[in-house]
Amino acid sequence: MARLDVTETFHGITFPGHLHTQDSLQYALRFPFQDTDILIATYPKSGTTWMQEIVTLICSKGDPQLSQTVPNWTRAPWLEQYYSAAVLEASSRGPRVITTHLPQHLLGPALQGSKAKVIYVSRNPKDVIVSYYHFHKMAKFLPEPGSFQDFLNRFLEGTSQYGSWFDHVKDWTSQTATMNNLLHITYEEMSLDLGSAIERVSTFLQCPLLEEEVGNCLKHCSFSNMRDNRMVNYTLIPEEIMDHNRGSFMRKGKIGDWKNMFTDEQNHFFESVFRSRMQDCSLKFVWERQDEEELCAIEGIPLKTAEAPVIQSA
Ligand code: A3P
Repeated sequence: MARLDVTETFHGITFPGHLHTQDSLQYALRFPFQDTDILIATYPKSGTTWMQEIVTLICSKGDPQLSQTVPNWTRAPWLEQYYSAAVLEASSRGPRVITTHLPQHLLGPALQGSKAKVIYVSRNPKDVIVSYYHFHKMAKFLPEPGSFQDFLNRFLEGTSQYGSWFDHVKDWTSQTATMNNLLHITYEEMSLDLGSAIERVSTFLQCPLLEEEVGNCLKHCSFSNMRDNRMVNYTLIPEEIMDHNRGSFMRKGKIGDWKNMFTDEQNHFFESVFRSRMQDCSLKFVWERQDEEELCAIEGIPLKTAEAPVIQSA
């Protein structure tokens, strides 16, 4: 399955043909979720792999054996990708951990009536854009990104691969009002206080951990450990598919790296589009780490780091 130059368009959204077919996308929409399933839903570059690792470790009570021997795409396959049916059929015991980048409006009907636990991870979109831009350079199954300006334009108009970030985030997070089996957690929460994020996820999964087990999870899903774990750092993917000379999947893992990429003009442009697209949405985002006082003012994000984030609507 090379199809590196193929793009599949499905319900008006483009997907890399290297990983998706019309059949695999249809399969996802008709997927019979089981109540014991755990679904990780994200827009690309929002902390998907990190959450896959966190969930794997929580389900293993902090034991890294599985996360160090089985690639993330086998232990938490993307439902809509062509290999997932085979992987899921082969998986035997325990809750199935499944990943998706599909928007809620496509996957929602399959989830309806199911008690599957859904974890939605979001990340501030400026950092998503920068991470996604760099990923396009190394992933040969994604189109060449062109200039950062062109990439930013496509992202903001919603024509990037996997569709509009705005629709993705608004549609999934709006479900928290009605779905009590949906947890919304942010990349920034994980970054600012990973221990609390792990406890939040383990409580949600009804998989309580001892303090020592939390400590083990924390250790094994740190940036440095994951960067060196071949089961999650994508170095198992051959050069023909990912050009490892053009970047690393585990690139920086920081809040606020967008500041190294955006010009002032691009930032103003971003903010005007963001304001207009998010006016019907009350989500707050952490854009950078700055001073402690502002962090204290932020509900739900405990102050456990020296630096604090800046949160604003745009
Ligand atoms: P950067 O490119 O900004 O470094 P996804 O898994 O959704 O594709 O997201 C990839 C992004 O998550 C990358 O961001 C990657 O470095 C970051 N990431 C993965 N594991 C992480 C960890 N343990 N700590 C911090 N960031 C992590």
